[in-house]
Amino acid sequence: MGNGWKNRITDILGCDYPIILGPMRLITLGSMAACISNAGGFGVIGASGLSREKLIEEIKLAQSLTNKPVGVNIPVYRPNAMEALEVSIDMGVKAIYTSAGDPAKLIDKIKYAGLKVIHKVSNLGMARKAEAAGVDAVVAMGYEAGGHIGREGITTFCLIPVLAQALNIPVIASGGIGDANGLLAALALGAEGVEIGTRFVATNECPVPTFFKESLCAAELTSTVVLGKEAMPMRVLKNTIVEQTAGTGEAKTDQVLAQQEKADALYVGEGGNKHTSVMPCGQVAGLINDVSSVSDVLSQMINGTKSILDILNRMTSGGR
Ligand SMILES: Cc1cc2nc3c(=O)[nH]c(=O)nc-3n(C[C@H](O)[C@H](O)[C@H](O)COP(=O)(O)O)c2cc1C
Repeated sequence: MGNGWKNRITDILGCDYPIILGPMRLITLGSMAACISNAGGFGVIGASGLSREKLIEEIKLAQSLTNKPVGVNIPVYRPNAMEALEVSIDMGVKAIYTSAGDPAKLIDKIKYAGLKVIHKVSNLGMARKAEAAGVDAVVAMGYEAGGHIGREGITTFCLIPVLAQALNIPVIASGGIGDANGLLAALALGAEGVEIGTRFVATNECPVPTFFKESLCAAELTSTVVLGKEAMPMRVLKNTIVEQTAGTGEAKTDQVLAQQEKADALYVGEGGNKHTSVMPCGQVAGLINDVSSVSDVLSQMINGTKSILDILNRMTSGGR
């Protein structure tokens, strides 16, 4: 796979390639984060839904499985955000990934401890605010992404160039990226890294039930739907439970939260099947046809850029 790439994101996060594991509540815990970091990307442990003790356990697990850096995602609006930050600092985590709230609430403590911070945004206003607060990079998430997404419906293809031009800090593209083409496209749009969620769910190592992975492989571009468009948008795979309980796109905040609880039950192994479980998922599922290892996904993505660049070089120099 080579010796790694070098840019502002690899410098900030200390990883070989600027490919980041999208935090996924109760899925991206210690083992998944370590696995991505060992394969050359940047692994992230999602603190959402974890007690103090469980977060400590998962950070310890990650540190026992890799000597590469991993980060912790802290949704700022959660009441235990400060506690999760203190645990992360005490345990020697190198970078904090804030989301769902104003990073200014945590930034002084993060910076005082000498950690790097990246923050998830879905529009220009949020990105400018995050930059002014002092974050080191933003993750810009487009509307095609899986899980909770922005209300404005801005797609990755349009969001990235605007943010890359407007900000001085680097931008990490998120939403719709699952292969070498997506990675190169994001870089061509001005991103300096990518964040990946859905593609990493369809891997051997991801701790979700097999039917979730099979559903991703069977999915087409039209297989996802956004719940709670006006309230708390969440992109999920269409199935019986989603269509029955929330309609298509009309769900209110409490209904979306109820769906989130059903998704949580799925990750902690409490039953369910492909009809009764809520499965957050991005449109990129329409491009996924197989479940493979994390290292295969990453190496195909990285090595695949070379042949695409050859084709582009030939084409732009007048050849075919
Ligand atoms: C199953 C699943 C669960 C997710 N859970 C969270 C979460 O808890 N917190 C969060 O910030 N983002 C969450 N996301 C979003 C991812 O972190 C990431 O931004 C997104 O998946 C990127 O888009 P992609 O799915 O097209 O790769 C989730 C995504 C998926 C697919």
